Amino acid sequence: MKAAIITGAGSGIGRATALMFAKFNYHVFLLGRDTRKLRITHLECGDATSIGCDLTKPEEIDQAVKQILNTNKTIEILINNAGTFTYNTFENTTEDDWMNQYQIHVMGTVRMTKQLWPHFVKNKKGSIVNVASTLGVRPTAGTSAYSSMKAAQISLTQTLALEGAPHGIRVNCVAPGIVDTPIHPPGAVSGMAQAQPLGRVGRPDEIAASVYFLASDSSPWTTGAVLHVDGGINLL
Ligand SMILES: NC(=O)c1ccc[n+]([C@@H]2O[C@H](COP(=O)([O-])OP(=O)(O)OC[C@H]3O[C@@H](n4cnc5c(N)ncnc54)[C@H](OP(=O)(O)O)[C@@H]3O)[C@@H](O)[C@H]2O)c1
Repeated sequence: MKAAIITGAGSGIGRATALMFAKFNYHVFLLGRDTRKLRITHLECGDATSIGCDLTKPEEIDQAVKQILNTNKTIEILINNAGTFTYNTFENTTEDDWMNQYQIHVMGTVRMTKQLWPHFVKNKKGSIVNVASTLGVRPTAGTSAYSSMKAAQISLTQTLALEGAPHGIRVNCVAPGIVDTPIHPPGAVSGMAQAQPLGRVGRPDEIAASVYFLASDSSPWTTGAVLHVDGGINLL
């Protein structure tokens, strides 16, 4: 059976992506720290495995990937989605803020990918989608650490697309705009609708549809792409 790994699957875009893959008959491996949230996604997906894993901890990633590769599932897809948002002036952004953003967005993506890469090379097939952000291309004030790490994810996507191509591995990136998920404080997104060219913020399932398109065999000749799914905000 085909399988997809989705990090940060307990809420928001990761949960919606897991539901999308489950709908198309993939077994889904759900990774995140909060196993209670993962269990709910698991129940909604049906055919799933939930694995508690802090993606800032290399040993927990090693353990999780070992568990995944020990199953009889054909792992074809990795979605690096887990993340946290931090908003502050550059002056007030601490060393810890920088390191936390680096560990989850950059090294979480790097370590998961590095662990799965030999498996994809061996199978001559693999597809990776990194969930970056429109801020990785067009940053705003107050997002120095987050936007820098999202830019790094986009650059990493493009390098890996080139290195993966001879092995049949595709690597793409979705750059969401403002999406209504728990990453934002309650009520924070409602005032942002008017600033969007399409007049509203996004829904997690709208990002999941693009992640699915890029990850699945629906886009066999697409690699290194940065797909903006953002109501047009990156054009302003
Ligand atoms: N919502 C937006 O407006 C927006 C816009 C652009 C890009 N994005 C990106 O989209 C991705 C998903 O975010 P979302 O909006 O869906 O927010 P979300 O609902 O808060 O989801 C983020 C998930 O990441 C997991 N996570 C965070 N730190 C982790 C860690 N150290 N180890 C393992 N899992 C961790 C969280 O689960 P646990 O707490 O259980 O670990 C959570 O389920 C993120 O990369 C975010 O930067 C979001």
